[in-house]
Amino acid sequence: MRPIDLRSDTVTQPSKEMRAAMAAAEVGDDVLERDPTLARLEERVADLLGLEAALWVPSGCMGNLIALMLHLKRGDRFLAPAQAHVLGSELGTAAWLAGGMPEALAWEGGLGRPTPAQVTKAAGSQGPYYTLRTTLLCLENTHNFAGGAVTPRAEHLALVAAAKAAKLAVHLDGARIWHAAAALGLPPSALTEGVDTVQVCLSKGLGAPMGSLVCGSKPAMAEARRLRKMLGGGVRQGGVVGAAGLVALDYLPRIPEDHAKTRRLAEGLRGFGIAAPLPETNILLVPVPDAGVAAAALEAAGVRASIVGPALRFIPHRDLAMADVEEALRRIEPLAHLLRAI
Ligand SMILES: Cc1ncc(COP(=O)(O)O)c(C=O)c1O
Repeated sequence: MRPIDLRSDTVTQPSKEMRAAMAAAEVGDDVLERDPTLARLEERVADLLGLEAALWVPSGCMGNLIALMLHLKRGDRFLAPAQAHVLGSELGTAAWLAGGMPEALAWEGGLGRPTPAQVTKAAGSQGPYYTLRTTLLCLENTHNFAGGAVTPRAEHLALVAAAKAAKLAVHLDGARIWHAAAALGLPPSALTEGVDTVQVCLSKGLGAPMGSLVCGSKPAMAEARRLRKMLGGGVRQGGVVGAAGLVALDYLPRIPEDHAKTRRLAEGLRGFGIAAPLPETNILLVPVPDAGVAAAALEAAGVRASIVGPALRFIPHRDLAMADVEEALRRIEPLAHLLRAI
């Protein structure tokens, strides 16, 4: 039985078009000068996000880390919504390499986001020289561990305004900014307004085998390029993978199809009496009585889900059709009791 892999939107295979583009890519040495294909990708993404410049990096974690290193001095405190990827899922690099001291903000503004008042309060005021310095707000849209929750534009702007009033820089982890924009029917640039830097992924939902971009002002990206090299992320003929990234961007208009698959999965599970929330984007988090037991039973029945705390996470993606979601539901139905709250 072919497993239906719903663990993540990163399990996609590069498409035939991506592989063809990779084979034909025009390349150069991106450390010595600029690889022409990476340069085209960087310009296209900067344009999409309404920022001055972009820098290709191998992974989202490296993009976030470079941004944090740009903004933080050792011992600076930074704020981020609870369960943000930079807090709990990047192996402590925010502290280890960027020198930042994290402060998690509870989701009082809605799923995955604090209120502007929380930001103002947590930032505090500049005290005497011996007080802790808070210098950065790091947002995440969509918020992965809040189940792909979207921060709407008005709230994004209000959070940025609160940060700026407190003299904080703002970094946005926009690994799935594409999904937030699609859900709101807005261009991605509507959700990056006011930020100093943003990190976006091409390997989550869009199908590229690798690659993220960190974006911001031209001087910030010139410094980011140095940091990328320091971290071992300076690659030579990077256009080979950059070409796949350019093809991946062509998938943007089709993101609503993945949202529809996710909604159908949630509705199907609800039909079995399972307490699945209605997802806002492509991530469905279902709280279950015993996530380990439920995931193992599903795996044996040919449905792969990942475990996120007390929940199972399902992420339908471009390599799965609506028919695969229907088949997943057929396989899950006999096991529904393991996913029902007690
Ligand atoms: C919100 C968010 N930020 C950053 C990352 C890191 O991306 P990567 O796995 O490419 O390092 C992820 C990965 O899933 C993510 O979900």
